[in-house]
Amino acid sequence: MRYGHFDDERREYIITRPDTPLPWINYLGSEAYFGIISNTAGGYSFYRDARLRRLTRYRYNNAPLDVGGRYVYLRDDETGDFWSPSWQPTQRELEDYSCRHGLGYTVIGSKYKGIRAETLYFVPLGEDLEVWRIRVTNDRPTRAKVSLFDSIEFCLWEALEDNTNFQRNYSTGQVEVEDGVIYHKTEYRERRNHFAFFACSAPLAGFDTQRDNFLGAYRGWDRPIVVEEGKATDSIAHGWQPMGSHHVKLDLAPGETREVVVLLGYQENPNDDKFDPPGSQTINKKRVKPVIARYLDPANVEIAFQALNDHWTRLLGILQVDTGSEHVNRMVNIWNAYQCMVTFNLSRSASLFESGIGRGMGFRDSSQDLLGFVHMIPARARERLIDIAATQLPTGGAYHQYQPLTKRGNNDIGGGFNDDPCWLVLGVAAYLKETGDVAILDELVPYDNKPGTEMPLYDHLQRSLQYNLDRLGPHGLPLIGRADWNDCLNLNCFSETPGESFQTTENKGGGVAESVFIGGLFVLTSNEMAKIAALHGDTVQAKASADAAASMTRVVETAGWDGDWFRRAYDYFGKVVGSKENAEGSIFIEPQGICIVAGIGLENGMAQKALDSVEERLATKHGIVLNNPAFTHYYLELGEISTYPEGYKENAGIFCHTNPWLMIAEAMSNDGEGALDYYLRICPSAREEISEIHRCEPYVYAQMIAGKDAPTHGEAKNSWLSGTAAWNFVAISQWILGIRAEYDGLRVDPVLPAAWESFTVTRQFRGATYKIRINKTRGQAGRVSSLTIDGRKVEGNLIPLPVRPDGVFEVEAFVK
Ligand code: GLC
Ligand code: GLC
Repeated sequence: MRYGHFDDERREYIITRPDTPLPWINYLGSEAYFGIISNTAGGYSFYRDARLRRLTRYRYNNAPLDVGGRYVYLRDDETGDFWSPSWQPTQRELEDYSCRHGLGYTVIGSKYKGIRAETLYFVPLGEDLEVWRIRVTNDRPTRAKVSLFDSIEFCLWEALEDNTNFQRNYSTGQVEVEDGVIYHKTEYRERRNHFAFFACSAPLAGFDTQRDNFLGAYRGWDRPIVVEEGKATDSIAHGWQPMGSHHVKLDLAPGETREVVVLLGYQENPNDDKFDPPGSQTINKKRVKPVIARYLDPANVEIAFQALNDHWTRLLGILQVDTGSEHVNRMVNIWNAYQCMVTFNLSRSASLFESGIGRGMGFRDSSQDLLGFVHMIPARARERLIDIAATQLPTGGAYHQYQPLTKRGNNDIGGGFNDDPCWLVLGVAAYLKETGDVAILDELVPYDNKPGTEMPLYDHLQRSLQYNLDRLGPHGLPLIGRADWNDCLNLNCFSETPGESFQTTENKGGGVAESVFIGGLFVLTSNEMAKIAALHGDTVQAKASADAAASMTRVVETAGWDGDWFRRAYDYFGKVVGSKENAEGSIFIEPQGICIVAGIGLENGMAQKALDSVEERLATKHGIVLNNPAFTHYYLELGEISTYPEGYKENAGIFCHTNPWLMIAEAMSNDGEGALDYYLRICPSAREEISEIHRCEPYVYAQMIAGKDAPTHGEAKNSWLSGTAAWNFVAISQWILGIRAEYDGLRVDPVLPAAWESFTVTRQFRGATYKIRINKTRGQAGRVSSLTIDGRKVEGNLIPLPVRPDGVFEVEAFVK
C-alpha cells in the first residue's frame, strides 16, 4: 500500500495522508544551516553541528514519535475551533492534506472547514536562515476571521546539555523582543557570540517567548492555551524554556489569500562588537536586520526559492538518464543523487535515527559518501578529502571519527579500525577519475592536524596501504583491529561488562584476528594505488602496489577461500569465521562483495561460485542478508554482531550498504539480470507499493531492512544517513548502466538484462557534455565494443578525454 506518490516532473514525493507508518522526513539546507522536517512539520534546525549549535529543540524517541517542530496553528476566531494545517500536533481531521517533499524544501498543506493553508519551508542558498512561507486562503462564501500562531521551541545550543543539565538550563534562558522579532540569546552575555532570531512579516497581535505561558501548565503542543483562547501573552522568557510564537490576526474576504513569511535564523557577531550600544547587554542587531528585512519581503522569498530549484537542476543535470525503468530514472536522476548530497552534508549526524549528539563524521563513512557526490561538487569533495586526510595518524591509521566543527579526530573513539585507511585511497581515486586534478596529490596535509607534520596527500595514501602491510596476521591477511567495515565484528573485544562499548573496548591483547574483507579491500585499493602512482610518475610505487595486490589476492584465494565462498575472518584464536565449519554465521555477504569487486576470482570460477552461494543462502525478496545462519546467542569472541536479535542490523539484517557490492559483482561477472534484480529488491521506489511493510520513506534508502530471520522481515529502519546511498548510486550508474569516470576517459559499459532496450544518458565530464545513446534491441545481453563520437568510430568502449572541454558530443554505443 502507498501513502502518496512520486511526481518526477516536479522532483517531489507527495504524501497524501499524514499518518505514514513512521514520520517521513526531508532535509532543509545544504551549506551551513540545516534542518530536518517530517511530513507533519516535526523536526529541528541547527547551524553546522547538530550537537554544538542546535537551534530548536526536538524530543527523540517520544510518544508520539515525532514531537517538536515548526508548528503553525490556525484558529477560527468566531468559533474558537483551532487546528494545525500540518495535522500534527493537533491531529484534527483535515481535507486535502498533502506534504510535498522536494529537493531542499517541503510544502505541507490542507484544508479545514473552508480554510486552506499551505506552508513552504526552505533555506535560501548562502543564508543561515529558514523561510516559512505560509499562505492562508478563505474558501468559504463568507468572510473569515482567523488567528495564526507560529511556534518553535529554542534549544539552549548544546543539544546534549540541553537534554540533561536541567539544574542549570532552567535558569539560563534569555530572549529579547524588538520590533516583533524574537531573539534567542541564552549564554550570549558570556562566551557565545551567536544568537537565533524568529521573525514574522505580518503586524503582530502579540507574541510569546515562554513555553509555559504559551502551552499552559500540564498541556502539550496539541492544545496550547494561547491558541485555545486566541490571545498571546507577550511573555518574556527568564530561564525555563524559551520559545518563539507570533500571533497574527487575518480577516479574509471570500476567496482571499494572505501570505505571511516567517524566518528562523542564526547570526554571529564579532566578539568585540556583540552589544549595541557597546557596554550594554543588548544584542547588536545591525548585521542581522538587513537580512531579516530582505527575506520578510515575499518577492525575495520567491527569487530565493527559484534559485534553490535552479541549483538542483544544475547539480542533477550532470548525470541524467532516460531508461525504460521509472525506478531507475527517478532514483538516478533525482532521489538517490539527492540522498548522496544529504549524506555528504550530514554524514551520520542528524536524522530520525541519528540524534545529532552521537556520531561525528566517520573516516570510512565520509570517504565512501564521496563516491556518490564527487561528480556533483568536486570542489567540496576535494576539501572533504583534505579534511579527512588531515585527521590521519602518522602510522597511516585513522581516527574512526572526527568532529565537523573542529575537524579534529575524536579521541573518545580513537582508531584501530584497520579498514579505515583504505577508504581514503578509494575516495581520492574517485576524485581523480572525476576531475583529473592530480595536483591534489601534492597538496600538503598534516597528520593528526599537527602543524609541522605536513606531507603531500600522496604520502598519506602510501601510508594508508603500508598500515595494512605492517599489520598482517599468521595467514598473511590484514589484522582486523577493533573491527573492519563491519563495526560489530569485534574480534578483540571479549566484553562481559554491561554498557562497555564494543567499538572501543579491547579486553584481550596479542590476538591474531584477521579479516578476509580487509584482504579484498586491500587488493581493490592497492590496484587503485598502482594507477595513482603511475599518474604521479612514481613507477616504483606503482609496481610495489601492483605486486602487493597480486600477493594479497593469492592469500585471499587460499586462506580466504572456503570452497564455495570467501571466508569472513579468523578470530583471536586463529579459528575461522564465515565458513562451513561454523554452525552459525557460516557465510557473510561482505567478503563475497568486496573480493569480487576487487576482481578476485573472476578468472578462476571462485567469483561465480561465491555469487551462487549468495543467491542460495543470503538472498531474499527484500534484499541480501548480511550473514547466515543468524547468530542465535552471544558469542564472546565475535562481539556486538551476536548481540542483535536474529535478522536485525549486522546480525543477518539486510544491511543495504553491502547489497550494491553484489550488484557490481554480478555486473562484473556479466550478469545484467542478476545485477538489476538485486538493485530493485532494495530500491526504495520499487518498494513504494509495500510501504506498509517497508515503513520508511519510499524515496530514500534505509541502512537496514529486517532479514528473513526477523518477525518483521522487510521492515526498513534507519533511513537517510547511510553509505547505502553512495554505493547504490555507484552500482546503478557506473556498473549496471555502465557510465563510469576513469583516469583517462569516460567508460560506457552497461551490463543489462536482455529485456532492456535502448536508453540515453547525458553526462557532464571534465567540462564537456556527452549525449550518449546506448543502442540495444530487446533480447540482446552483450556489451559495448565500439562507439561513435560525433559520427567518428572509436574502438573499445572508452570515450577519450575531451578534446574540447566545453564541447557537446553525441555518442552512440552499440551493444553486441
Ligand atoms: C554503520 C557505520 C559504518 C559501518 C556499518 C557496518 O553504517 O556507519 O561505518 O561500516 O555500520 O557496521
Ligand atoms: C552500532 C551500529 C552500527 C554502527 C556502530 C558504530 O554498533 O549497529 O551499525 O556502525 O554502532 O557507531
